[in-house]
Amino acid sequence: MKVTVFGCGYLGATHAACLAELGHEVLGVDVDEAKVAGLQNGDLPFYEPGLPDVLRRNLAAGRLQFTTDYDRAAAFADVHFLGVGTPQKKGEYAADLRHVYAVIDELAPRLCGDHLIIGKSTVPVGTSEELKRRARSASGDGAEINIAWNPEFLREGHAVDDTLRPDRIVLGIDSSDSAGSAEAQVRDLYSAILATGTPFLVTDLATAELVKVSANAFLATKISFINAISEVCEASGADVSMLADAIGFDDRIGRRFLNAGLGFGGGCLPKDIRAFMARAGELGADQALTFLREVDSINMRRRTAMVELTTEVCGNTLLGKNIAVLGAAFKPESDDVRDSPALNVAGQLQLKGAAVSVFDPKAIDNSRKVFPTLTYADSVHEACRQADAVLVLTEWTEFVHMDPAALRPLVRNMNVIDGRRCLDAGAWRRAGWSYSSLGGPVRDLRGYVASRV
Ligand code: UGA
Repeated sequence: MKVTVFGCGYLGATHAACLAELGHEVLGVDVDEAKVAGLQNGDLPFYEPGLPDVLRRNLAAGRLQFTTDYDRAAAFADVHFLGVGTPQKKGEYAADLRHVYAVIDELAPRLCGDHLIIGKSTVPVGTSEELKRRARSASGDGAEINIAWNPEFLREGHAVDDTLRPDRIVLGIDSSDSAGSAEAQVRDLYSAILATGTPFLVTDLATAELVKVSANAFLATKISFINAISEVCEASGADVSMLADAIGFDDRIGRRFLNAGLGFGGGCLPKDIRAFMARAGELGADQALTFLREVDSINMRRRTAMVELTTEVCGNTLLGKNIAVLGAAFKPESDDVRDSPALNVAGQLQLKGAAVSVFDPKAIDNSRKVFPTLTYADSVHEACRQADAVLVLTEWTEFVHMDPAALRPLVRNMNVIDGRRCLDAGAWRRAGWSYSSLGGPVRDLRGYVASRV
């Protein structure tokens, strides 16, 4: 099938490349000329394992192209995906929908005949109904535009796999689409995925929009739940990682997303829970989501707690201290530093007078743009030179498997602080380090090492 994908950021570029991988003819559309030129040359503007291969293979096969030209896009296909960003509005909790509206306002007047626009962006419930009105009033007499919603659940760092082998596909369709033509088109598009038995749920538009934000709100709540428990563990001397293993064996609870530590960041969970609260308020259901305020504040408190723990380990002052910060990305296997807990902590430590040296395997260039005044190192060893404390704030495999003995001669004081509870505490202690962890103690009972899933 021929399809366009509007928005070539994280979501759009991945979706376009993966649709081409499924055998479709795809045109990616973005207003950013530099981004489009790069993608057309096979260059991704972000780090995502496996995606460059998919991109280049499909460019070479001629199934994938990129453009800034809306006229070309309107004529290219009659199925269009909408994958532009919906960031948080400045100074408000609500989502900023200007990019979503801009695509509809530009595209609709150019369409002739029957077209299906399928939203993938994370939007407040009710947006697709608004887009339907907008598209229909902006289009000419010869156009029939239908809107459907197919939320995206991909995780950064696993984007290709999550797109080609999703847990489920959700499709919200317009109640007036009685012939089910949107459903038939989407079934055709994803036929290779559906053939593997992937659950396919057809809903109304509002439910599909809500599924996405509810999923992210649940994940954020799960992380903040374990981090709240970790505050009690800190106060009582219990080990939250063992506790997570123990409660996680209950299938009803599950172990995933129960890793206590520095909490969640990135371009999705923080802004999505805030936009969800804002939208519930507009709908008169604000009480329903007041708990998300607590989820948000538990999460933000982890960053302050990390700064306090570091200060304490450094003898209650950061002045004149050298701090090595390992990790800047909001999570491993990503170069994304949007609302990164690691970078936030690095910035706070510097403001409190520490000399901070940051190393991340992939996110240094992006970090420099956000925090140009921090010092950036080219390696773990360089960051740790003369350090009074070594902080692990993003659990890159490279950090999890560091050799504590090899770092020993580099540092000024042998303090390691595990912000993600990902290190082998026993191994660090045996190598002579003073090991501390955010979220209370890590017990080294009978060699037990808690899992991280
Ligand atoms: C998240 C969702 O997981 C995806 O399903 C969704 O599609 C995506 O948002 C989106 O809305 O586009 P992502 O932002 O890539 O994906 O990252 P996650 O893997 O969810 O991690 C989010 C944050 O939570 C990271 O900072 C991570 O370090 C933190 N985290 C995760 C924890 O602190 N503890 C955990 O147990 C798990």
